[in-house]
Amino acid sequence: MAASERNAFIIGTGSYLPEKVLTNADLEKMVDTSDEWITTRTGIKERRIAAPQEPTSLLASRAAQSALKDAGIGAEKIEMIIVGTFTGDMPMPATACLVQKNIGAPRAAAFDISAACSGFVYGLSVARSFVVSGSYDCILVIACEKLSSVTDWTDRDTCVLFGDGAGAAVVSSEGQGPRIIGDYLAADGSIYELLFMPGGGSLHPCSHDSVDQKLHFVKMLGSKVFKYAINSMVEAASTLIERHGLSAEDIRMLVPHQANMRIITEVGRHLGIPEERIHINVQKYGNMSAATTAVGMDEAIRSNDFTPGDKILVVAFGGGFTWGAVLLEW
Ligand code: ACO
Repeated sequence: MAASERNAFIIGTGSYLPEKVLTNADLEKMVDTSDEWITTRTGIKERRIAAPQEPTSLLASRAAQSALKDAGIGAEKIEMIIVGTFTGDMPMPATACLVQKNIGAPRAAAFDISAACSGFVYGLSVARSFVVSGSYDCILVIACEKLSSVTDWTDRDTCVLFGDGAGAAVVSSEGQGPRIIGDYLAADGSIYELLFMPGGGSLHPCSHDSVDQKLHFVKMLGSKVFKYAINSMVEAASTLIERHGLSAEDIRMLVPHQANMRIITEVGRHLGIPEERIHINVQKYGNMSAATTAVGMDEAIRSNDFTPGDKILVVAFGGGFTWGAVLLEW
């Protein structure tokens, strides 16, 4: 089949959320904060926290198994595994290689994508290109994050925001499910210091000093990130809407990155998409970085009665800065 005739379908999705729930009331006992502040400023009520014996690869493998079950295929059919994360089990090997071992996918190429909260959208876009080009037929895209392992639990500015989780999708050249009909990716490295984790790489290798300076935790200038978050998600979403000759009314469901309820509301307002057509789960899970849109897309697909022609727009932004969107059609 010629590349121009090939399609990329999402034939299965899945999620894994750790059991432990950390509520705003629990956080009130840890830092100087309140349920009222967290709820009104972010919309978050609770988040999930992985157990010490649950590394990111385990969260990812459980979400992957759920997606494979949903797709009705075995792991041996997977030819490539793409994992979006910045909290992998270790710097080397890639978390995707550990997932390959865990789920038993011996044929699969495996690599990670570092695009922070945009990791799922970046992963879906890369998978779509490999499938449409004809190089691969069946790719597992996973977004997973154990943010609790890089959170400074004494910093109220950040620790109330994050949670752990994983979501996955099987992208295939054939099968039942929504088709990825468009994608858009962007980045701006010039503002990376608004949201980053400075320690543990070649610039600040792990040392007593790097630990003392808390360089291994996420640092964020929240109010500045806020503005970029809205602008970048609106840009990505409206670019795809226009590129495909659509209007906001044509989007049956928007699945945005969930960092803050106020950001989600603003993005919907700018795009002209009302709240009943926006999938929202920030109240339950907080910001799970790349996993947020993966879990959101899985929930949206499972809980809605989509019919042929319905369009789902998944949009994200994150550290880097990176941002992007993918457009799906049933
Ligand atoms: N509890 C109580 N008070 C708090 C808390 C808290 N947890 N955190 C901050 N405050 C205080 C501040 O100290 C400040 O007090 P001051 O006025 O006396 O100085 C006041 O609340 C207001 O602080 P702001 O930072 O201006 O609050 P804002 O309304 O901007 O909300 C927030 C902060 C929630 C972080 C918001 O800016 C935001 O959501 N930004 C975007 C975050 C985001 O999208 N991150 C990207 C993804 S993360 C990733 O990629 C891993």
